[in-house]
This record gives sequence, structure tokens and C-alpha cells, in this order.
Amino acid sequence: MIKFDFNTYVDSFVNEKDYNELLNKKEEVLTKFNQSAMTGWTKEISEELKNDLKDTAKYIKNNFDCLVIIGIGGSFLGSYAFDKMFRNYFNDTKFEIIYAGTTLSSKYLDELVNYLENKNFCLNVISKSGSTMETNITYGVLKDLLKRKYGEELKKHIIITTDKEKGPLRAEVNEEGYKSFEIPDDIGGRYSFITPAHLLPLAINYDLDRIVKGYYKGKRLLDQAYEYAVTRVCMFKKNKYVENYCVYEENMNYFTEWLKQLFGESEGKEGVGIYPSSNVHTRDLHSLGQFIQEGNKIIFETFIKVTKVDNYIDYNGRKLSEINNLVLDSVMRAHYSGGVPCIEIELDELTIENVSSLMYFFMLSAAFSGYLFGIEPFNQPGVEVYKKEVRESLK
Ligand code: PA5
Repeated sequence: MIKFDFNTYVDSFVNEKDYNELLNKKEEVLTKFNQSAMTGWTKEISEELKNDLKDTAKYIKNNFDCLVIIGIGGSFLGSYAFDKMFRNYFNDTKFEIIYAGTTLSSKYLDELVNYLENKNFCLNVISKSGSTMETNITYGVLKDLLKRKYGEELKKHIIITTDKEKGPLRAEVNEEGYKSFEIPDDIGGRYSFITPAHLLPLAINYDLDRIVKGYYKGKRLLDQAYEYAVTRVCMFKKNKYVENYCVYEENMNYFTEWLKQLFGESEGKEGVGIYPSSNVHTRDLHSLGQFIQEGNKIIFETFIKVTKVDNYIDYNGRKLSEINNLVLDSVMRAHYSGGVPCIEIELDELTIENVSSLMYFFMLSAAFSGYLFGIEPFNQPGVEVYKKEVRESLK
């Protein structure tokens, strides 16, 4: 179960007129959303695809030591964020998945090549366009390693996830006959959680049916997603230009990275949008906490709380996880008193279903707030600007 509180530590910062005006735009926003050609992520995926994903996950698990995912942005953050959340901090026993392609660090890639030298590994290259520089460089280097190790047999080690028809990766699949999956035309990178881009890596260690079921359950949160969008835009109108996502478990850190990409790329256009930022508490209370409490009042916060008290550690007659949540409640009160509005999202438990539903909720809300800001939430023209500069300087 997921609960939302957009009132307790927010209300006094919201202008009622703004709020009602935005609330009244719901039909208009929903119409735009329903007419968009980029909402393929709201459609059910087929049983046939689910079975293919499960079989391929089994093939990877049974035949290799590890899987290397090569992808960046929306082509890796969803599965990475999800996977991180459910792994053990120490002595993790899940199948090893390495994420590459997110950096041009030669040190990283060199060390990765050395690490993979003695591993029997499989590559899953994920890129909708098939032409992303970081992905292509990493793929080139690791494919050379595969060629050196396996010669003609390398085909068994490569799985490509890309556009159905377009792009260099699809052309390569057609030529070489690699196993491949499709990212549908009507789904953009950061909205692609329910595509093979994320479901294949996740199917290796998690129950795919639970992920998919939880994801579509997120549809029930449409009203709350709209209310969250309205509240955020009200914050913007009150000069609260930064949203700080706060989590209380280190392994939820990458969930906030996923959120940052989702909202940053969906909303930051034409001079509007809220800058998404994140804190892991209590760590960051001892660094950025000072700024948030007493600094420039451009920030509002969204706390993600997991209410279930676990049994791990007792401290002075209380469970440590209970203390962690007491701190969360106290921090919200403290920050609110310092002029920082705080939204609360509460999961009763950190389960596969809850996390998948929450992802759907956030995607829906990012699209809605995009429309409320008057921009197109599903494109990212600004990202192209740096890519063009890079291409020019590499000539
Ligand atoms: O959300 C997006 O569309 C982007 O972040 C892309 O996912 C990212 O740039 C990677 O693109 P591609 O999948 O084409 O390699």
C-alpha cells in the first residue's frame, strides 16, 4: 500500500487560487496525455513477450557468470535503481549484473575489461537510438574482448535491445542474427521501465510477474499523481525551484537518481521546470541539512518513507528502523518550520509490487506536470545540444 500526504507540511505554502486553477485543468491535461503518441508504457505487455524475457533470463543465468548491461540514461536507470534496492549490502547472492556504458572513464573500462578477462560473460546492449556515444564506445571495447575470447561463438554472448526497425544496432542484429528485443516506438527512454530494456535484466533475479502486476497497479494512483503534479507546480509558483527527494535507506539512492532523470528530462524545458535533487538521510543531514534548514528558500522536499519496522537491530528498547522513521518525521517538522514545504510518500513495505507501482505513479505525474508547465514531457531536445558539440569537436 502507498499513501500520500500533500497537505500536512505543504498547505501553508500553497496559494489556493493557483491550486484550484491547476486542479481544474485536469480534464485538459488528461486529454493531452491520452492523445499523446508516447504513452505506450500505459499499455499491457503480452504474455508472449513475458515468456521470451523469462526464457532469456534463464538462458543468461544458466550459461554465464555475469551479465554486463551497456546503456545510459533511460536505458539503464530503471533496472539499476530497482535492482540496487533489493540487493543485500554484503554477501549478496543474486546473479551478478554489471552496469557499463555510463561513463567515458578509461580507468573504469580498462578495469572492467581486466575483470571480465576471466569471466564467462554475456552482454546486453540497450539503446533505443542505437547511436549513443557512451554505449557504442563501451560496446566496441567489450565486443573486441568477446571476439578475442570466443571467436565465432561471440554471437551466443550478445543480446541487443533497441528500436524495432531503425538505428545501427537494429541493422547489426539483422546482419549478425543476434538475439534481440524491441523498445516500442511509442515509449521514450525514461518511460521504458515496462519494456525489455529493464525487464530483461530484472527477470534474472526477480519475479517478472510481480513486477508487471505491481506496475499496472500504479494505474490506480492516477488521482494522486495528478495531485502531486499540481502541488509541485504550486511550489514552483511560490519560487520553490528545487525538489529534494529524501530517502532513509542507502540502497534507495539510485531510485532518486531515476527520479532525477525522469523529472529533469521531462520538465526542464523552455525556461521552466523544477530542478530535482536528492538526499540520503541521515548522512546528508550532516552536510546539506544546514542549507536546507536555513539557506536560500528555493527548496521543497519529497520524503519517501517505508513504514514497516524491521527486526534487525534493537537500540535502547526500540528497533533501529523505528528510530530511522522517527528521525524522518522530526526532519519534516524541522524543515517545515524553516520554511521548507515537505511532501510525504509512504510505502507500507519495500516490496517489488510497491516499488513498481510507485514508478508508474511518478511517470504519470511527470507527464502531468509537464503538461501543467505547458511543455512536452516526452522529448529531450536539450540533450542533443551537448551531443552535437561533442560530434563537432571529434571531427
Ligand atoms: O530518456 C531518454 O530518452 C534518454 O535519457 C535516453 O534514454 C538516453 O539518452 C539513452 O538513449 P538511447 O537509448 O537512445 O541510447
